[in-house]
Amino acid sequence: MTRRNAPPAPDTIAAQALRRIDPRTGAVVPGIELASTFARDEDYVARQGYIYARDGGPTVEHVEAVLAALEGAAGTLVFASGMAAMVALAETLATGEHVVAPAGMYLGGANWLRRMQARRGIDVTFVGPEPGAAEAAIRPGRTRLVWLETPSNPTWDIADIAATATATHAAGARLGVDCTAAPPCTTRALALGADVAYHSGTKYLGGHSDLTAGVLSLAARDPFWEDLCAIRRLMGSVMAAFEAWLLLRGLRTLHLRYARSSASALAIARHFDGHPGVARVLYPGLPAHPGHAVAARQMTGGFGGMLSLLVAGTEPQAVDVARFAEVFIPATSLGGVESLIEHRRTVEGEDSPAPPTLLRLSVGIEDPADLIADLEQALERAGCGG
Ligand SMILES: Cc1ncc(COP(=O)(O)O)c(C=O)c1O
Repeated sequence: MTRRNAPPAPDTIAAQALRRIDPRTGAVVPGIELASTFARDEDYVARQGYIYARDGGPTVEHVEAVLAALEGAAGTLVFASGMAAMVALAETLATGEHVVAPAGMYLGGANWLRRMQARRGIDVTFVGPEPGAAEAAIRPGRTRLVWLETPSNPTWDIADIAATATATHAAGARLGVDCTAAPPCTTRALALGADVAYHSGTKYLGGHSDLTAGVLSLAARDPFWEDLCAIRRLMGSVMAAFEAWLLLRGLRTLHLRYARSSASALAIARHFDGHPGVARVLYPGLPAHPGHAVAARQMTGGFGGMLSLLVAGTEPQAVDVARFAEVFIPATSLGGVESLIEHRRTVEGEDSPAPPTLLRLSVGIEDPADLIADLEQALERAGCGG
């Protein structure tokens, strides 16, 4: 198939990081621009707009340009961590404004919203995963932000971005979507009507468990965008140049990594669906998952590498499976090339909404047969399923 005169496809953009070959050296990979300050030219004008690294610099700008191209965004801002990006977004809210957010959203984000509610008088309604729950909680004229997370941890509930966008906009509010588990190689939230696509870039975007990153991509460069730029500058929460460079490198293989993780996760989900040691498999790629139909429409590049198993047994047996794993690594986080297993309730503590027998798997890019065999031996050793 020839693509003459067509714009480069997203995987081409990612693999070449926008093909910015250094005009001086021909380097196909950019250097890391570590400078914290940038000299003005002979007319006392900032060269290429760079002044001071708290506003961003060349390496930060490069990764932002790649992310904006992948998201189809008017602009992207990168932050030192996913939480730094979430805090910046929350900082745009004024006292008395209303937010609708999923009860099962990332715990750190939910805790920050609760803090804003207590300290700042932001009004937050947390809603369940049922279809239409977010739309029903919107208060026209008062709701400023509707937040979705899809697929959402650790049950991988799916929210319908397009349907929520219509209801959100009809009420004069903004829609933000945490797409950490569904990067732009599978879901482009802005094209589905979201105003903000959010990522913990620590996960799939970076992909190698070697950096923390937060990403906000916006549909428009409007006063809201200007406000976020000012907040990032004033809070000093911009990503550092070295992390920006690592993120650029990680993004080059995003499409390959995500496709491989998705294929392996689907194979694992199918293998353990109906397995005697497993009471339930939660994966949006399985037709029985309640969000499957929306996910099939919304996740065009694969259902991702995240799934959960409810073991057939007790909570201590579930913890044992995580302890006995020899290929899966017993660690938190997700979206890296190495597979991780975690007993979510142990990590989140007593208040965790996660079922006690739930194990969260982040499937990496290893041989899926090794991963399946590892879970088989760990389930057997833990005595799951009798
Ligand atoms: C869905 C989701 N959103 C946001 C975050 C926060 O990102 P970070 O850890 O990069 O601050 C995480 C981290 O686990 C996450 O899983």
